[in-house]
Amino acid sequence: MHLSELLERLPGGTVLWSSLLQFSDPVISGISYDTRKLHPGDLFVAVREAHGDGHAFLQRAVELGASALVVERPPTEQPPCPVVLVENSKRVLAYLSAAFFNQPGFHLRLVGVTGTDGKTTTTELTAQLLRQGGIAAGFMTTVALDFGRERLDNTTRQTTLESPDIQAGLAKMLANGCRVAALEATSHALALHRLESCPFDTAIVTNVTHEHLDFHGTWDNYVMAKAHLLELVATFAQSKPGAKTILLNKDDQRSYERLKSHGPIPHLTYGLLSGTDLRATDILADHQGLRFTMHTPWGTARIATPLAGEFNVYNCLAAAGAALIEGVTLGSIIETLHQAQPVPGRMERIDEGQPFTVIVDYAHTADSIQKVLTILRRQTSGTLWAVFGSAGERDREKRPAMGTIAAQLCDHFVLTNEDPRREDPERILDEIAMGAERAGRQRNRDFFCIADRRAAIAFAFEHCRSGDTVLLAGKGHEQCILVGDDRLPWDDRIVARELLHGLAPQETAPRR
Ligand SMILES: Nc1ncnc2c1ncn2[C@@H]1O[C@H](COP(=O)(O)OP(=O)(O)O)[C@@H](O)[C@H]1O
Ligand SMILES: [Mg+2]
Repeated sequence: MHLSELLERLPGGTVLWSSLLQFSDPVISGISYDTRKLHPGDLFVAVREAHGDGHAFLQRAVELGASALVVERPPTEQPPCPVVLVENSKRVLAYLSAAFFNQPGFHLRLVGVTGTDGKTTTTELTAQLLRQGGIAAGFMTTVALDFGRERLDNTTRQTTLESPDIQAGLAKMLANGCRVAALEATSHALALHRLESCPFDTAIVTNVTHEHLDFHGTWDNYVMAKAHLLELVATFAQSKPGAKTILLNKDDQRSYERLKSHGPIPHLTYGLLSGTDLRATDILADHQGLRFTMHTPWGTARIATPLAGEFNVYNCLAAAGAALIEGVTLGSIIETLHQAQPVPGRMERIDEGQPFTVIVDYAHTADSIQKVLTILRRQTSGTLWAVFGSAGERDREKRPAMGTIAAQLCDHFVLTNEDPRREDPERILDEIAMGAERAGRQRNRDFFCIADRRAAIAFAFEHCRSGDTVLLAGKGHEQCILVGDDRLPWDDRIVARELLHGLAPQETAPRR
């Protein structure tokens, strides 16, 4: 594709100025925003980010063979390739990527899922329901990038990829015969315009609780960043035909009140309250999973699913709503939920024959930890333990809140590393501990601080007896732990299994 063709496909007014006429129209072989990944012939888009400014790498991009440069500030000297000036290069990166891949989002139905908790589960469940219902679907989440016929683990540590990768993914799905794509959409990605060129047909907001206030400032900014998903549905409603729907969790009252009249697209509600469009009643939760009656505008069904935890009722309702909108039948949804696969690292039971229960869960917010611990509390006859921490270099505010919640719901807990990054690990643990101490619990009696995560898990296991439960929270499916500048291989599930194998038999284990 020639540069001029690519630029013609951008929304009117995007290009403020360009030096294209001084050059022969170059062929663009790819779109790059990072010189470390740039191939000769790529169009280089200089984006400003919190941790660096692409404008510092323009010369490097030219040396590496960039065919043209897209900038917010023109370089002082004209480089030997065309320069295109735009106002917001991050947004334009999304437009260029979609144009480069021939607007795959317009040839797929797009479901976007945002919210504080439950995004990955809802997105993956939606894809499961669609596929089992006979509709080829792909998805991209924190856990996996599934393009229909090929599936990769998402090892990027980024839930919503950068826009060129999103568009490349959609193009792959389309090439693989998918009709629907389900995308997990973080508030960061929405605020940073990564999804700007995704014409969503259905938007789901799972809930909006207290997280990422370091990035967004206030709760209102945070909920409004999520509201951008709703705006994207509205923006493309003119240019892309088909049903447009917004699914809102009415039980999450604060976000519901804020979002219910945001924009022109009609919404459906879900939840447990009467008056919701998709509603669950008669919920039974036990170690076999969940049973509930699902009332929908498409009919009523009795659901039995191995998915654990009451919050999964919400995820099921939202995913069922999205699938019903695409034409999946209620009968098919009953069957698929009956054999639904849990998302890796979400309420995943680790059973190596030990006499106590071990659960690995990705809960890493105060709200989700509270939900998980409340569930496990009810299901535990003995002592309830949790092993968790809080990520470094982000969301400091949630730390004491997590400590308070563990203090209220656990008998004992161990605070430990969870990606401290370059922060002092002990200080992170102290900040969580503060919340626990405020709730009246005592360090080294009720709870323990052991930064080394393996040692922390081992400590909890050594103290467990028959009937007890240990929750390993915060890492879920993740395959590495970030300590300092190192990215060390890690998997809570593997470490737990290794430690359980190494445990002395219960009868001879020392009581501590
Ligand atoms: N609907 C929900 N409401 C509250 N907490 C949830 C919900 N769904 C899942 N969780 C909790 O959040 C954790 C992360 O779930 P996940 O689906 O990966 O959410 P996200 O992608 O938004 O981080 C789960 O392990 C569980 O503890
Ligand atoms: Mg996720």
